[in-house]
Amino acid sequence: MSLFLAISTIWAVAAIVLLVFSWRLARTGKTHVHKTLMILLALGAWVFFASYLFTQRYGDPAAVPFPKEHVIWMAVHGTIGLIPLVGATCLIVSRVRSKGNYRSTHLNRNHKHYGRVLVVIWLFTHLGGIFNAVFL
Ligand code: HEM
Repeated sequence: MSLFLAISTIWAVAAIVLLVFSWRLARTGKTHVHKTLMILLALGAWVFFASYLFTQRYGDPAAVPFPKEHVIWMAVHGTIGLIPLVGATCLIVSRVRSKGNYRSTHLNRNHKHYGRVLVVIWLFTHLGGIFNAVFL
């Protein structure tokens, strides 16, 4: 297993645990810790995405190229992964802005609903990442 794959699998497991924990915190009203965790998770996801692009661009010597029949699944998986990344960033920016426009007001009003959908997609993405590392 390449170093990148090992780190990304550890990150996926940690992120699943933290996402479920953070959701639970939001449900029980501990929103301050929920806020900190969600910001850390979103930052971690951006760092992961940047390092993924970096590895694709400059190559990972230990990486084994995946078979052609997996390319579509990898593309679908990566594209779906961008949805919670961009969505979570929008939710965070809307919450931390002192003065909101109509878009952030809309996101803040519907935070709970958008957040639930994004967390489920986010969890699916990480589960897919673990599946890739173990079975592909
Ligand atoms: C600055 C960052 C954030 C703050 C301050 C924050 C704060 C809150 C607060 C106060 C609530 C209670 C309901 C409400 O007021 O609407 C809540 C609920 C929730 N948040 Fe966040 N949140 C943040 C980021 C996120 C992100 C990035 C996500 C997911 C991508 C998320 C997912 C959720 C979910 C799923 C709930 C509903 C929990 C439930 O009742 O099922 N939050 N959040």
